[in-house]
Amino acid sequence: MTDEELVQKAIEYRKNSYSPYSHFAVGAAVLTKSGKVFGGCNIENASYPVGICAERTAISKAVSEGERDIVALAVVGDTPGPCSPCGMCRQFISEFKIPKIIMANLKGVRKTVTLEELLPFGFTDSDM
Ligand code: THU
Repeated sequence: MTDEELVQKAIEYRKNSYSPYSHFAVGAAVLTKSGKVFGGCNIENASYPVGICAERTAISKAVSEGERDIVALAVVGDTPGPCSPCGMCRQFISEFKIPKIIMANLKGVRKTVTLEELLPFGFTDSDM
């Protein structure tokens, strides 16, 4: 699976976004070492903080299926530039040491960064 194919998966999953409060739809997709793809979208809640971001939905789907070895994550929003994961998602991405993060939008913009670039000085198990 190419990076662009993973972005296209994230775009597909974005269509399932449940975002009646922000009206900001986000899609994500993760690729596992075994070659499987898990997609996710943001799912909001009337109690706002209860909502979950697309990235954490996609990662949770992979991990709960026993697929913890994730090699790439793509995230897409209708943003002017590349759609950037929030701080909480960066920490979640860091937990599973996802080495490649592809940030994209609907206009064809793509920016690929490493985990180190996404979350410098992150708190990890090695800090405990
Ligand atoms: N959102 C994501 O799904 N991923 C991010 O990394 C940024 C924010 C969602 C959360 C909320 O449903 C909406 O975008 C507006 O913040």
